[in-house]
Amino acid sequence: MARLRVAVLISGRGSNLQALVDACSNPAFPAEIRLVISNEPGAPGLVRAERARIPTRVISHKEFPDRAGFDAALDCALEEAGIELVCLAGFMRMLGDAFVTRWRNRLINIHPSLLPAFKGLKTHERVLAAGVRFTGCTVHFVRPAMDEGPIIVQSAVSVLAGDDPARLAERVLGEEHKAYPLALRLIAEGRVTVTGERVDISGATGPAPSALINPTG
Ligand code: GRF
Repeated sequence: MARLRVAVLISGRGSNLQALVDACSNPAFPAEIRLVISNEPGAPGLVRAERARIPTRVISHKEFPDRAGFDAALDCALEEAGIELVCLAGFMRMLGDAFVTRWRNRLINIHPSLLPAFKGLKTHERVLAAGVRFTGCTVHFVRPAMDEGPIIVQSAVSVLAGDDPARLAERVLGEEHKAYPLALRLIAEGRVTVTGERVDISGATGPAPSALINPTG
């Protein structure tokens, strides 16, 4: 069966990119990464892609007078590579409405909280300040508003006494690295349908295959 052609967009470290690369390195995995794009020339994630012999492009937002020009350059690179699904993985630029609409339900993101709670930056600081007992991560389809869109996979993590933002971030990141490949697999297997603004996963019997629970960690 043909594998889903995926691009990953990054701006920095690329540990989620690495998790996706590792999953796709199994020939039985139903998706393959055909292109990695960074808007930051020095992003360490680019080295991860090169090591895995995945084509990379740097498209710096600084080279475009406006967002529309940058988005059009991204779109062009994705089309040229025949990309079917785009994964944002620590990509730190907001994408314009036209781009998001064009890639509707073919563009996914990972966020380090249980959305719709704690959208935006400094997530773990705000989670700790709020005193919630659980946090986690969410993989979702992208909509024009930041960190909004139909939820594909979530993984829950307990907030522990004595946590600081760094410790909590590390445990959530461990879950991100499981949740993102799971979401990609479900999509690539053709099991994900968006109805209204909700995701249905076909072939799901018993506990949702799109919920990971890690109560101790
Ligand atoms: C992750 O925490 C992700 O959820 C958020 O940005 C961070 C990126 O980390 N969107 P990395 O570059 O994948 O290591």
